[in-house]
Amino acid sequence: MPGLRGPSDYSQEPPRHPSLAINSKEPFNAEPRRKDLVSSYITPVEFFYKRNHGPIPVVDDLDKYSVSITGLRGRAIELFMKDIWKLPKYNVTATLQCAGNRRTAMSKTRPVKGVGWDVAAIGNAVWGGAKLADVLALVGIPNCSRATPSGQKHVEFVSIDKCKEENGGPYTASIPLLQATNPESDVLLAYEMNGETLNRDHGYPLRVIVPGVIGARSVKWLDSINIVVEECQGFFTQRDYKMFPPSVDWNNISWPTRRPQMDFPVQSAICSLEDANLVKPGKITIKGYAASGGGRGIERVDISIDGGKTWVEASKSQKPGVPYISDDESSDKWAWVLFEAEANIPQSTEIVAKAVDVAGNVQPENVDFIWNLRGILNTSWHRVQVRIGHSNL
Ligand code: MTE
Repeated sequence: MPGLRGPSDYSQEPPRHPSLAINSKEPFNAEPRRKDLVSSYITPVEFFYKRNHGPIPVVDDLDKYSVSITGLRGRAIELFMKDIWKLPKYNVTATLQCAGNRRTAMSKTRPVKGVGWDVAAIGNAVWGGAKLADVLALVGIPNCSRATPSGQKHVEFVSIDKCKEENGGPYTASIPLLQATNPESDVLLAYEMNGETLNRDHGYPLRVIVPGVIGARSVKWLDSINIVVEECQGFFTQRDYKMFPPSVDWNNISWPTRRPQMDFPVQSAICSLEDANLVKPGKITIKGYAASGGGRGIERVDISIDGGKTWVEASKSQKPGVPYISDDESSDKWAWVLFEAEANIPQSTEIVAKAVDVAGNVQPENVDFIWNLRGILNTSWHRVQVRIGHSNL
């Protein structure tokens, strides 16, 4: 593609913040420290997790870069950045979460395949860009279309990066046409993140943002948008990012038996504490995040300081000092909430967090029940150990 290219090696990677924990160097996969993650509601770009499957693409000439839209009647339409900038610009605050968030903890039950992540493969940003619904209307597909007259029901996104899972081919994904053409779904072709031009790690010059859905469908470095009959047939849709039951292993797996994962389930994690902590006796502050997919708000975050026997409710906010109300017009429906609770810790114990979303969905107590061979969607109660002591403080 003119203007944007996907290198075959890692010699042109962008600079990154030195405090990130690197889970894999090539491709670059990294997450911030827990305490950095919840230091603000909007995650600064440098602390936003980076999830890649190949070397980061390079823009040689932005004027020459275009996205081709195929599958329409007649020839493909090329949209240049100047065409996309002309469309109304929306700022959508949305949490992106990798389906592999908290995979390391799941692999302690039984080994799983995939890059290990602590609890920070998640971040919340203000994404600026054009609505995909407007882009598709521009090329003749009306808002809220379930199917085109020729029976196409999906919108496929194709990148330019070279991924080994695709034998050097690009990263791909798709979403239903109805979601893509519904302005209320807030699916964006984003060119800004937190008010700045998107950076290379996060998809410069243009990426898809699908709010409320696992990060895997928010394709970065967009090369083409294809209007297609069937959902994407690529590796990351058909042979990855599917949730299997605990009984399925690498000997009996049958990929077509499961749907590609879309919405993410209700999730929360404590970020002011590590897995194991040494604290002084007395009051401690327990802080973290909670989020649910599909635009479902957070109804409650419960905290236990006795391993899950008794619970207290944490306070929740999106804007500092303003209590969060899930169905309030001023709440960001696609975004996480930060929670906080204070507790007196008289003795060594296990502290637990679990969230409930507005549909009443609750995080499962035990990771064993949701174990799956790819280690996705570990949404089990988040537990940290606290030991009372006086040394090293
Ligand atoms: N898009 C491309 N082109 N290549 C990728 O490797 N990774 C996906 C998605 N889009 C990926 C991609 C996954 S699995 C996630 S979780 C998000 O991007 C991560 O986005 P981020 O790196 O901006 O946090």
